Amino acid sequence: MTANNRIVSGMRPTGALHLGHYFGVLDNWVELIKDHQCFFFVADWHALTTEYADPTRIKGFVPDLVKDWVAAGLDPEKCVIFQQSQVKEHAELHLLLSMITPVSWLERNPTYKEMREQLDAKDLSTYGFLGYPVLMGSDILIYKPKWVPVGQDQLPHLELTREIARRANHLWGDIFPEPEAKLTPTAKLPGLDGRKMSKSYGNAISLGENLDEVRKKVSTMLTCVKRARLKDPGEPDECNLYPYHELFTPAEECTRIARDCRAAAMGCGECKKMMANALCEFLAPIQERRAQFDANPDLAWDILRDGNLKAREAARATIEELRAKLNFNF
Ligand code: TRP
Repeated sequence: MTANNRIVSGMRPTGALHLGHYFGVLDNWVELIKDHQCFFFVADWHALTTEYADPTRIKGFVPDLVKDWVAAGLDPEKCVIFQQSQVKEHAELHLLLSMITPVSWLERNPTYKEMREQLDAKDLSTYGFLGYPVLMGSDILIYKPKWVPVGQDQLPHLELTREIARRANHLWGDIFPEPEAKLTPTAKLPGLDGRKMSKSYGNAISLGENLDEVRKKVSTMLTCVKRARLKDPGEPDECNLYPYHELFTPAEECTRIARDCRAAAMGCGECKKMMANALCEFLAPIQERRAQFDANPDLAWDILRDGNLKAREAARATIEELRAKLNFNF
């Protein structure tokens, strides 16, 4: 067991990332690579737990995720970016940990219950889906990280990972340090309609969104319900647009906007135009970084290939250690 500052996290490849992913998750990752050893991976096997009936689409989403990450500022020179299914040691650890994980722990997992109910169009009464957190635990424990940056919804999975680690340590001898959650802050940005930003709600702006489309979408945004007419004073604290200004518009400008809104001195249309400009300025460099992938179609796969090698080396060390403990080193 080694003490370190290692970080592990993953995302399922399910489509283009949006501003909701950027603020809270990606911006956090980009900060973490500055002073931690980070492993970030595309959880393609996890995508398969829900997409098993139509798995062929996953392949296209894998490089897309890498492109979004790098575009958002995740420098592949400063962290390990890899693909879960290309580091087969995750699957071996998953199998070994499945031997010691009580089914009752999995069945009482609130995230499991909630996802099964939410995705009721899919048959998720499978062994693989029940074992989702065991695979996630393997993804994590195989790198013996100190921290796992995740959202609130993933906490039950991480707690299970810690319980599995304790059980493995107890049964097989000390091997896995218990990883701790690094909770990502709750979404700072509502969707265009005020609900949580989500692709499935149709209220998202993706990081690669065409800038004309961005302006169009912003013009349809819900603002403050108090301002039915231009002469009604508004309240930025109750406005769905204002949090966007707080992120994209310089602070002094924000103060002026808030004052003019409360004084009914500026209309929502003008306010939206200002925000759209600031948002486009924010997105432009992200989209420029992403453009390097258009010029080089293999680049995302090259990044993964390098990362897979590094991840495999670290994963193999843990598997060998574990095989020795089980006397399975034939
Ligand atoms: N379950 C995570 C999600 O849906 C993705 C994931 C898979 C993950 N394995 C992981 C996250 C390991 C952190 C660590 O977002």
